[in-house]
Amino acid sequence: MLEVTPVMTIDGPSGAGKGTVSRIVAKRLGWHYLDSGALYRAVGVAASWANLDISDPAALVRCTFDTAVSFVENPSGARRVLVNGADTPTELRLETTGAVASAIAAFPEVRSALKERQRAFRQPPGLVADGRDMGTVIFTDAAYKVFLTASAEERAERRYNQLKDKGVSVTLDGLLREILARDARDAQRTVAPLRPAEDAVLIDTTGQNIEQVVERVLALVHP
Ligand code: DC
Repeated sequence: MLEVTPVMTIDGPSGAGKGTVSRIVAKRLGWHYLDSGALYRAVGVAASWANLDISDPAALVRCTFDTAVSFVENPSGARRVLVNGADTPTELRLETTGAVASAIAAFPEVRSALKERQRAFRQPPGLVADGRDMGTVIFTDAAYKVFLTASAEERAERRYNQLKDKGVSVTLDGLLREILARDARDAQRTVAPLRPAEDAVLIDTTGQNIEQVVERVLALVHP
């Protein structure tokens, strides 16, 4: 019988803990990891470096195909994302970059230009993929599907702490507003809107620490 490389999809709104949980779960399972949001962010960053009009889907599609994105892990385990070979230590994680990524991600042309690139991450022995439409569009046949949520307040607080650790100055109130606006845009777009797959396990991470969530997710693979 043909062996299919297993995939776990972890979707949800920004700040729900997808990135941290996915990275730890991938490491524990010894599987690869796809941060699909970083691809949208990278295209957004490349488009702004090139001063492109981010309301022009044709220019964005060209930019998507022309932008090289590589994920590099330092010996310490810290992860770097290189956009056209350049390091993007803080720019990629800024909420303003998230907003640009969310705006360009609403174009079906951009989504389809990134489709095969995301699917190429499916390599043995397995893949953990985090994003908005991993379980609903990109890996519909995934063996394990998770949808992580948390209250908007808690998600804003987590983002606030992450950005503060990176030395970026933001206000909690401002972040909450930006996160709510981004959630609304991601959930209301017509193509691949943010929503749980019908066969996804919903996990509300409000008030839970990372380890508790990781254990619940890993239990899907090793009950
Ligand atoms: O997960 P993130 O915050 O890095 O994602 C940034 C934006 O990219 C998000 O607001 C919407 C878009 N995105 C998407 O549309 N589909 C994905 N699979 C991942 C991200």
